[in-house]
Amino acid sequence: MRKNILAPSILSADFRHLEQDILEAVEAGAEYLHIDVMDGMFVPSISFGMPVIESIRSATDCFFDVHLMIDQPERYIETFVKCGADSITVHAEATRHLHRAVQQIKGCGVKAGVALNPATPLDALDYVLEDLDMVLLMTVNPGFGGQKYIPQMTGKIRTLRQRLLAMGLETDIQVDGGIKVDTIREVLGAGANVCVAGSAVFGDGIAEKVKIFMEILGEYPQW
Ligand code: DX5
Ligand code: ZN
Repeated sequence: MRKNILAPSILSADFRHLEQDILEAVEAGAEYLHIDVMDGMFVPSISFGMPVIESIRSATDCFFDVHLMIDQPERYIETFVKCGADSITVHAEATRHLHRAVQQIKGCGVKAGVALNPATPLDALDYVLEDLDMVLLMTVNPGFGGQKYIPQMTGKIRTLRQRLLAMGLETDIQVDGGIKVDTIREVLGAGANVCVAGSAVFGDGIAEKVKIFMEILGEYPQW
């Protein structure tokens, strides 16, 4: 049975008081922290890397869900695990050796995820799906917080959930980008169960916003 989980993306936190923002989200009930690493190559922007993750690791025991938006992520998998990642998600588009990268993540003893950009077909998951703990469906083009949900992604989520059910797999489906109070019901209804939210959580009133999301997550059946 899958659980519905909120994964606040710290990309939208205020880095002047990152620890405070993180603790407010976690204490309000968020079970994952979504950590977006960007290299300025796979995506246009550069975010943060190992030192930041290592530093916040000492602030909380919360599950660190690390989303690598970097080219050739296999170069850094062990390093991110050492910094404190509990799961690592690599983009199918960023590596020539997706199967090997997935095995490398699992070999480190953490959960393995594969992310697909909006235009990447679900078939890119063929031959690795059985090995994954999570599939991350990008619901915006990766690279920035605060973008609008791409409505065509609802059908993609539904198709993936049907495919997983037909295969007897309980893999998590994570959605990332444009998830807000007015779009989250649509993705949950389609079969997503791990919801990333950055700009909709951080800013003023973090705890209140987390609580509202947690209530909505509770309204939806487990997949
Ligand atoms: C975008 C990142 C997201 C981002 C989401 O490339 O992968 O995790 O932080 O931000 P919002 O929720 O504001 O769309
Ligand atoms: Zn992300």
